[in-house]
Amino acid sequence: RYEQNAELLKRLTESAHFFQSQLTQSQFKKKATDYLASERGLSGQIAKVYGLGFAPPGWDNLLKAIGKRAEQQEQLLHGGMLIEKKDQQGQYYDRFRDRIMFPIRDSRGRVIAFGGRAFGDEKPKYLNSPETAVFNKSHELYGLFEAKQNTQNLDNIIVVEGYMDVIVLAQYGITNAVATLGTSVNSQHIRKLFKLVNKITLCFDGDKAGRAAAIRGLEASLPVMQDGKQVRFLFLPDGEDPDSLVRQEGQDAFQARLEDANSLANVLFEHARNQVTLDHEEGDAEFARNAMSLIQQIPNDITYRSVLLKQLSKESGIEKETLNQVAIPTKRSSYTEAARNQQNEPSQH
Ligand code: GTP
Ligand code: MN
Ligand code: MN
Ligand code: MN
Ligand code: MN
Repeated sequence: RYEQNAELLKRLTESAHFFQSQLTQSQFKKKATDYLASERGLSGQIAKVYGLGFAPPGWDNLLKAIGKRAEQQEQLLHGGMLIEKKDQQGQYYDRFRDRIMFPIRDSRGRVIAFGGRAFGDEKPKYLNSPETAVFNKSHELYGLFEAKQNTQNLDNIIVVEGYMDVIVLAQYGITNAVATLGTSVNSQHIRKLFKLVNKITLCFDGDKAGRAAAIRGLEASLPVMQDGKQVRFLFLPDGEDPDSLVRQEGQDAFQARLEDANSLANVLFEHARNQVTLDHEEGDAEFARNAMSLIQQIPNDITYRSVLLKQLSKESGIEKETLNQVAIPTKRSSYTEAARNQQNEPSQH
């Protein structure tokens, strides 16, 4: 896959270098460096670690710099860096204009895509590369390469929402965070991370949307659970993200939150309880069924499944054998199903 796209990957690396060079060479560089340093409080060092850059205003800066030949333009187009003009076949303009650029690297460090942040309230706030031959949004995790490079004894990975969260955490010494790329965390992500570490901490907003995302994270984790592996859930105070929080309270306090994160069992049972609509014994039975519909998504041969079953038995007063007979017609979300189907496919890496 990558061999076929060697030329395209070269153009993406050149693009990253071009954007980086614009932080020191563009006539508009002050806008970018002021934004990074003053508005976002990033050090030059961390900007370098993550390869941050600047796409200056204008329609053809990148095109002129690295797309002089037709074949280069074609490669930049397929890499998602250029857009073809309407009704003008073979005429292109830059996709990323007047933005701070975040190169997205694959887990081996190759630049495969970009995220670009607007300076102010322009929409969209973040513009990402489209899916290309080398960029699969639902598979990649921003910051994974950097986390592997910069963390000694990497044994726990934190999954956060945004580029800035990853970078600011790293600046505060928490180098093991990665971000999904505008999608919620899925089974592919979890499986990919379990190849590297035994512990994953999923980080969510404390608000309603964050709670809903955590349930998606729970459902993504269950079918790919393995013995010796752990997924935990960290809920942040309402209105905060890891970026704002670690700045406010510092590395140690954030680490303390991480150590205090909820267990998967805790989140599972709480969710099962919150979904109960009936009262009295009917409610107890409903709780047990809700919990079973989740527990049953864990593969049969995983010890952790029995542990949860035992806990459910204790909490509901229903014997394990009886619980096991509860046949739940599970309604699985499509991404969980898709991930399950892929479970036995060889890895792409
Ligand atoms: P800052 O405002 O720069 O601190 O970014 P943030 O990461 O806090 O933004 P937010 O919490 O709103 O979004 C989290 C992540 O969702 C971002 O890092 C992006 O990956 C993605 N995202 C946010 N806004 C957009 C958007 O307008 N379009 C797309 N495609 N993705 C977005
Ligand atoms: Mn990959
Ligand atoms: Mn929120
Ligand atoms: Mn945020
Ligand atoms: Mn933020």
